[in-house]
Parts: sequence; structure tokens; C-alpha cells
Amino acid sequence: MPGAGKDLARRVTLRQLKIFEALARNRSVTRAAEELYLTQPTASMQVKKLADAVGMPLFEQIGRQVHLTEAGRELYETCVEIFGSLDRLEMQVSEMEGLKRGTLKMAVVTTAKYFAPHVLGHFKQKYPGIEVSLKVTNRERVLEQLALNEFDLYIMGQKPEEGIEVEAVPIAPNPLVVMAPHGHPLEDETNIPLERLIDEPFIAREAGSGIRQATERLFDAAGLQPNVIMELSSNEAIKHAVASGLGISALSLHSLTLEGSNSPVGLLDVEGFPMDRTWYAVYPRGKKLSVIAESFLEFMVEEGFNVGEQMDALLATLLKPGQGSSDGSAAKAASPAPDRS
Ligand code: PGA
Repeated sequence: MPGAGKDLARRVTLRQLKIFEALARNRSVTRAAEELYLTQPTASMQVKKLADAVGMPLFEQIGRQVHLTEAGRELYETCVEIFGSLDRLEMQVSEMEGLKRGTLKMAVVTTAKYFAPHVLGHFKQKYPGIEVSLKVTNRERVLEQLALNEFDLYIMGQKPEEGIEVEAVPIAPNPLVVMAPHGHPLEDETNIPLERLIDEPFIAREAGSGIRQATERLFDAAGLQPNVIMELSSNEAIKHAVASGLGISALSLHSLTLEGSNSPVGLLDVEGFPMDRTWYAVYPRGKKLSVIAESFLEFMVEEGFNVGEQMDALLATLLKPGQGSSDGSAAKAASPAPDRS
């Protein structure tokens, strides 16, 4: 046959390959024809044309059983690769379709409001058709919403410790720092023992807050109790109260991201701080994430690395030389490998 085995891309059709792949897999022309809703003569004729193009017999029929020749086995492997690639392409295209429009609904704890909109902004640049709804509330409310499965994803400062089973993916560091008004007498000290804080008026977040829980645990573990003079349910309100000299507080370093070196409050170098905390993206175990939610999760994990560097730079700006944690790193608070636990 002239030109046999050459220029196959032009002479062989995908339909022929599909029929041959079904034949080789089923070891039967009849079954291949049935699978592809063809008549047996049509299937046989297409496979014959394919064999002519290749220039070698592809199989031998002994009784009802089909045996592939060496060329047939090679061709079968090629078919598996080609159709595997096409399947992957099909999946990618449908994911791209899914990312063109749709909604992402998230509930996040208060401190994530300093981080999530920023990441969402970048995500929206990539996928402008996606609508985002972001509910900002405290840990207790986020846990309630998680149990009701009301949102696609949740961001919180600690993994849920009880209740429903979840997947929790570490996304970025969320260090907790002690804030004090500028000019506070402890401002220049290093490694201040925790007990020195109990004489200071302390402004606390409300019950149900993750920050409050983390701070209380630290004091409890040391057998101490902070002198809480006021409870406020907003990080911003606490920052203002501290800046006005009402007291000190423990808040996320993220709450100072916008102000940077113009921070309205100073940081105290207290033992146990900056407290390493990590944001987790959480969802109920077994929940099938939408294409959008899955993509956003990956995107957050990638952006989380920059957040670590940003936090280190902010700490270096706000703490005086010689102050801060022994390795001076906020980035270590987030695990680099996003293990789903
Ligand atoms: P919260 O959570 O808003 O409930 O205090 C924040 C955090 O845990 O960092």
C-alpha cells in the first residue's frame, strides 16, 4: 500500500482510532461495534482502513477471539494516550466554563477581613465573572454556619475542636500581638513576663471570639487573669480604644496591615507573643467543593506564602531592635505544605 505507515496524522481518523481502541479493549469486533452503536461491517471496515494506513495487520481473529499483533499493541497504547489527553482537556475546559461565572460564598472570622478581600481582589482579576459574598463574623457564628453547611468555605483562626468532622487547610500565618498606646511604659522593654500584664487595663474581644479564646488559654495556662476593663466585639474599635490610652489588648497583627509604620498603637514584646496562629480554610468533611471554591482554596494557599513575608516585614517595622520572638518569624505560623486534616 503506497505511503503505508507514513503521514499517519493525515491519514488516520479519530473515529477509526476510537473503534480500534474499543476493539482492543473488548477483544471483540462485535462488542466494540455495540459499544459505539455501529454495525459490525462498519466497525470492521474502519479498522481495515486503519490497518491499511498503518501498513501492518493490527490483530488476528482466531475463532471469536481477537489477538493484537505487536503493531496493534503499540497502536492501542497510543490510543490510550490520545483519548486520555482528550479526557483531561475536556475536564479542564469544563472547569474553565465553571470558573467563568458563579458565586463563591464564604464566612470568615473577623481578622480574616484584613486578608480575604485582598486575595479575593486578585482572584476576581483572574476570574472577573465570579460573584463573591463574604460574611464576616466571629468564631462562634462561623462554627454555627459550618454546622449548617450554609457557605462554600469558611476561614477561621483555629481548627474546630469539636462538632462535625472537617477538612482544615492551613492557608496563612495569623500572629497575635500585644498592642499598647504609644509611649506606654513597657514599650521599650524586651521579653516582658506575662504576669506584668495583669496590672494593665485590658480590653478584650467578646465571648465567642477566637482571639478571646486564644488569649484566655494563654493566661489560664499561666494561672493568671487579665484585668479586663472593657469588652468590644470589633478589632477596629479595640485598636481605637488602645490608641486613646484606655488599655492594652491582644489582637491579630493583620489589623495593622494598612497603617504599617503609621500604626496608631505600639507593640509590646511580651513572652509568648507574637503568638503563632494560622488561618485555616475549613469545610465539612465529604463536602464536594464547587470548581470555584476548589480554585479559590488553591489560590489562597499560594497567596498565603506572601502573607508570611508581609507579616515578618510588619513585625520588623513595629518592634524595636532586639524585641520579638526568638526567630523573628511570623511566616512559620503557617505550614507550607497544605495538609488536609
Ligand atoms: P474572632 O477570630 O474574630 O472570632 O476573634 C479571629 C481569629 O481567631 O483570629
